[in-house]
Amino acid sequence: MSSFTRIAPCPALVSSRGRGGNRSFPIFSLSFAVFHNVRIPRENLLNKTGDVAPDGRYVTPFKDPNKRFGESLGALSGGRVSITRMAQVNLKLALTVAIRFSATRRQFGPPNTEEIPVLEYQLQQWRLIPYLAAAYALEHFSKSLFMNFAEFQLGAMMKEKSERQADMGREIHALGCSSKPLGSWTAQRGIQECREACGGHGYLAMNRLGDLRNDNDPNCTYEGDNNVLLQQTSNYLLGWLSAKHRDGVRIESPFHTVDFLDHFPQILETKFTATTAEQCMDPAVSLAAYRWLVCFLLDESRRRLEEQRSEGKDDFEARNGSQVYYCRSLALAYIELCCLQRFSAQVSAEDTPAGLRPVLGQLCALYGLWSLSSHMATLYQGGYLSGRKPNELVQMAVLALCSQLKDDAVALVDAFAPPDFILNSPIGNADGQGHKVLERPSWWKEFSSDKPAVGSLRPKL
Ligand SMILES: *[C@@H]1O[C@H](CO)[C@@H](O)[C@H](O)[C@H]1NC(C)=O
Ligand SMILES: *[C@@H]1O[C@H](CO)[C@@H](O)[C@H](O)[C@H]1NC(C)=O
Ligand SMILES: *[C@@H]1O[C@H](CO)[C@@H](O)[C@H](O)[C@H]1NC(C)=O
Repeated sequence: MSSFTRIAPCPALVSSRGRGGNRSFPIFSLSFAVFHNVRIPRENLLNKTGDVAPDGRYVTPFKDPNKRFGESLGALSGGRVSITRMAQVNLKLALTVAIRFSATRRQFGPPNTEEIPVLEYQLQQWRLIPYLAAAYALEHFSKSLFMNFAEFQLGAMMKEKSERQADMGREIHALGCSSKPLGSWTAQRGIQECREACGGHGYLAMNRLGDLRNDNDPNCTYEGDNNVLLQQTSNYLLGWLSAKHRDGVRIESPFHTVDFLDHFPQILETKFTATTAEQCMDPAVSLAAYRWLVCFLLDESRRRLEEQRSEGKDDFEARNGSQVYYCRSLALAYIELCCLQRFSAQVSAEDTPAGLRPVLGQLCALYGLWSLSSHMATLYQGGYLSGRKPNELVQMAVLALCSQLKDDAVALVDAFAPPDFILNSPIGNADGQGHKVLERPSWWKEFSSDKPAVGSLRPKL
């Protein structure tokens, strides 16, 4: 039986009538299981938040259904929180390969000069360096999220039944359901960009970029398809808004990711005020824009749902008709804001060495502006931006930051790169000499005749 797995019984099939007369047909398979007339003993129920008594009664140690729900949701988050972090592993490997390659690979240049490294091209910088910034932002974010999850998990182990424990469960659920999409999609897109940025070497199997991309890919799907998961996050945010409207509650959560929504009406009144690209390089500019964006999308999503309900649609139909452009965008904007917010706080945190603050500040500013760029239409639509200037300033600031970070890019990947034998990608070798693997060995002449005709027939790699 060594290569077969016995699929664990599904709790939904648990019989409340005890063991007597069970007939089971366990099917062994690597990929699927079929059950026919299977009864599973009541004692096998995963009964942490609810159980079935011998007489068939449902019992639960949680009196408050909200707390029970929070506990159950939080327990599902471990996988998603871990994937958010795991996805960064492949992204960092791909960036290491592509950035080292781009710093050494020379191609063309101004007339009558030597060829220049491809990383000197603005286009190459703009393609890669924002993903480098994203990798740093997500590295910190996924770590801090894991610590949040650990705090929740500790409470669960100690059988903590406070309000705060339940609130943590719900917040972790909302965070995990959107951080997993953000992490796995950023890796997916980033690895693909790295692959293309290395030209033909990018798809040469020995350089590994294709493997890294394929390895990451399933992360976009399991533990919940990214698009479907995002609904959980938007539901959480919409829930806060209606609690505020209905009961006037103060919006405040254990990890403080929604606290700003308490100032919802005032934030919606704010406008973009930067007047130079320089000013835009302060992460505070992107943070303010993101806070407005989340409030705006929250309001729009609520409006959209109400509109559909007032047309006589039921809850299912109303949600069906509110995902695209509304709830989905809302969830993504929220998680990008959370990530940016924590990165920005870390840049100025006491335990961040003063010498690192400038470069981390640039990465943070770039991550903020670059992410924000994908929401420009909404920022204009809602009147946060107006005129041609703001978009131009953001673009100028993105390019300036890419250029400022270009000289540090190799050091920034060296900081998270594994040793060469683990990276295992010749064009990504740490000494920048990896491409030599693809050239003729120094002793090739010993194997060729003196006649130049033979030598010139050899393909030049
Ligand atoms: C779960 O089931 C076990 C075994 O039946 C029982 O000892 C335990 O008290 C149950 N726990 C809860 C929380 O109901
Ligand atoms: C998910 O991502 C991690 C790291 O990028 C990778 O090792 C793993 O194989 C991926 N897929 C699965 C199915 O776990
Ligand atoms: C869901 O939305 C699509 C697109 O508007 C529509 O065609 C479909 O009928 C909707 N389904 C339900 C069950 O409301």
